[in-house]
Amino acid sequence: MTERERVEADEAKGPPETDPRIAGEKHPVARMIGIGILASLVGIAITLWIDWFPDNASTSATKIDNLYDVLLICSVPVFVLVMTIAIYSVVRFRAKPGDLGDGAPIHGNTRLEIVWVSIPFIMVTLLAIYGWWVLDDIEAKQSNAMVVNVTGQQFTWSFEYPSEKVQTKELVLPVDRPIEFKIQSKDVIHSFWVPQFRLKSDAVPGLTTQIRVTPNKEGNYEVVCAELCGIGHATMRQFARVVPANEFDRWISDQKKAAGGGGTSGGGGGGENEAAASGEQLFSANGCDGCHTLAAAGATGKVGPNLGRLENADAAFIRKSIVDPNAEIEKGFKPDVMPQNFGEQLSKEDLDALVKYLLESQE
Ligand code: CUA
Repeated sequence: MTERERVEADEAKGPPETDPRIAGEKHPVARMIGIGILASLVGIAITLWIDWFPDNASTSATKIDNLYDVLLICSVPVFVLVMTIAIYSVVRFRAKPGDLGDGAPIHGNTRLEIVWVSIPFIMVTLLAIYGWWVLDDIEAKQSNAMVVNVTGQQFTWSFEYPSEKVQTKELVLPVDRPIEFKIQSKDVIHSFWVPQFRLKSDAVPGLTTQIRVTPNKEGNYEVVCAELCGIGHATMRQFARVVPANEFDRWISDQKKAAGGGGTSGGGGGGENEAAASGEQLFSANGCDGCHTLAAAGATGKVGPNLGRLENADAAFIRKSIVDPNAEIEKGFKPDVMPQNFGEQLSKEDLDALVKYLLESQE
């Protein structure tokens, strides 16, 4: 009998009643279930023991963390089930050397198929309902919410408190007060993210996206850009400071005083108060400090050249470098990094003031 004939003869017989390889084994399924339950418990314990999240500083954080834990707990038994069966099969049903026969011709198992379709369906549906319920809860409109406008640009964040007409580079928030962030971008897609608040939203040019957060723990947290937005992406980090309400009020009035009773006119906020903004305010409000070093402004950006040490420091050159940044590229730097739209963003007065300020700020 050739090998081929032997295989054909085996196939004609159909599957054996009991696979000889597990014939001597007592309750293989019960054993697998036992191992699976044990492995699941160990897996769940490890999952819950790992500290996945940063500090927890908003009312949404606990709800989101709980949801995440439930997702992990549910996925451990599924992972264990799949791996147990796979590993068991690989070990038990491994072909003997020289065995070239086909497997037994099995044509489906209706009961098994119903089980493996309906259990995941029920799990995924319940988790979706739970997820929707959490989302609905954390996105709910709050009374007494304070609006904060967030603007992303290459490579800095700026914040505006429209009810107070204050514009800043540092995000300061009163503790336990609901905040409505309205997020915009001046150039490309960024993503506004404070990990300790858990929530994150893209800043998309031409759109205003929104997230609602109630910070509930005082502290200093990082505002991070979470969307690759260009060469300075990694430097697009600022601070969010959550403070007691009275300290916030004091900070707001300090900001108003510093800005001469109104907002700066740069940075997209504008407003009816058109008091001339100082060069330093413009430098900061337009995000120059995100990329450039300038000792006079305390800026330490490293993406672009040091603006306090220009070789060719005359007004015409500075003006051209702002409105047409690719015209001349300093050695060691690359073109197309600086946004090309400052010419449109800055009014003529602001541009004049900024050029004058940079001229005066040479070391
Ligand atoms: Cu902005 Cu990354």
